[in-house]
Amino acid sequence: MITGIGLDVVELSRIRRLDAKSPKFRERVLTEYEQNEYSRLTAARKVEYLAGRFAAKEAFSKAKGTGIGGACSFQDIEIRKDAKGKPSVYFQDVETGMVSITHSKEFAAAQVLIQTI
Ligand SMILES: CC(C)(COP(=O)(O)OP(=O)(O)OC[C@H]1O[C@@H](n2cnc3c(N)ncnc32)[C@H](O)[C@@H]1OP(=O)(O)O)[C@@H](O)C(=O)NCCC(=O)NCCS
Repeated sequence: MITGIGLDVVELSRIRRLDAKSPKFRERVLTEYEQNEYSRLTAARKVEYLAGRFAAKEAFSKAKGTGIGGACSFQDIEIRKDAKGKPSVYFQDVETGMVSITHSKEFAAAQVLIQTI
């Protein structure tokens, strides 16, 4: 049964600015696993990756109905990809949502769907 949907769009320029200012922003948004993936990317891909994860996590928090906060922090949400590159959302280490992420020159966006069996 589908129990939630969420959508989010972010401006790459905003994420680029926040990430350039200090590592604190990406350390708050990305889990350790994601920070490891991020560290292996080119500068341009780093911004896309971080913006895509930020959008996916905000979209997930909307699908859940909580927003980002005490009940659902950025660190509770992790995006993991399968061998073919398809991403899925994990909440507190449990696969909880389907996600689709996209980027253009200026924006990243994500849509999340939560399905409960
Ligand atoms: C829920 C949240 C993700 C919304 O994101 P936003 O960037 O503020 O706003 P958006 O334009 O993407 O989305 C707004 C829409 O979210 C929806 N929304 C708000 N709270 C929601 C909730 N609890 N559940 C589902 N949807 C919600 C509303 O429909 C709202 O539109 P409306 O007011 O016109 O009805 C946001 O409140 C939140 O938790 N942000 C985290 C902020 C944060 O920690 N930022 C870190 C920066 S370092």
